[in-house]
Amino acid sequence: MLRQEINTLLTPIHGFLHCQTPDSWIDAAIQPDNQSILLRDHANCELKASQTAMWLIRKYAVDAASGEQLLAWAKPYEDFVYRRIRDGIFHARKNGLSAPLTPKAGFAHGQALIDKMVRLIKEEFHHFEQVIEIMDARGIPYQPLEAGRYAKGLMRAARTHEPATLIDKLIIGAYIEARSCERFAKVAPHLDDELQKFYISLLRSEARHYQDYLTLAETIAGEDIRDRIQTIGEREAELIQAPDSQFRFHSGAPA
Ligand SMILES: [Fe+2]
Ligand SMILES: [Fe+2]
Repeated sequence: MLRQEINTLLTPIHGFLHCQTPDSWIDAAIQPDNQSILLRDHANCELKASQTAMWLIRKYAVDAASGEQLLAWAKPYEDFVYRRIRDGIFHARKNGLSAPLTPKAGFAHGQALIDKMVRLIKEEFHHFEQVIEIMDARGIPYQPLEAGRYAKGLMRAARTHEPATLIDKLIIGAYIEARSCERFAKVAPHLDDELQKFYISLLRSEARHYQDYLTLAETIAGEDIRDRIQTIGEREAELIQAPDSQFRFHSGAPA
């Protein structure tokens, strides 16, 4: 990807985020000791991203039968991560929906949510496979890793009544995607060739995911949500800048 295209992708993301990744996080990320954690946590983030999108579709947009189809799609990935069962052929299921999902009645934006999220899920599963491939090639075994504070900390900012919960979770999704994009771009030049290429190759889809989440939040809300974007953005920047004793893909400044 050309420098100019990268800049075009990053400009709105830097405008959306309230701070950049601290240099101290980059310093930690390039420590050889942290490489296995970075990759394992990255794999987890990709799976988590698809699971969250599936959860949104299942909770708000489809009936039980379509929900089952989504669960079946996720199963080989979840078997691998939670049960260490690996059939080695994730690829065969990349387009793993056996039929189009049916929107349930009573939610006007169901089809829009399904369309954007199904594409996102497909891409996150693909990213997951790519991380696992790189780990395999480097002899890094997949081992479970305790989640960091970031996603949990953001979810605490979500309001607890509908439809506010949905709107806030979509905004949180936008922040997580935007941060990932910013972080991939910032750390990439300091990594080896293969990881550098891989991280840069992710920028386009992560930038679109950020935009998709934000568009869904704005469309579904049908009103001005700038104050929510502001509040969640401030919370996000706190989590990124405050000292963090754990190193993870979305961790704060190393304590
Ligand atoms: Fe991804
Ligand atoms: Fe993403």
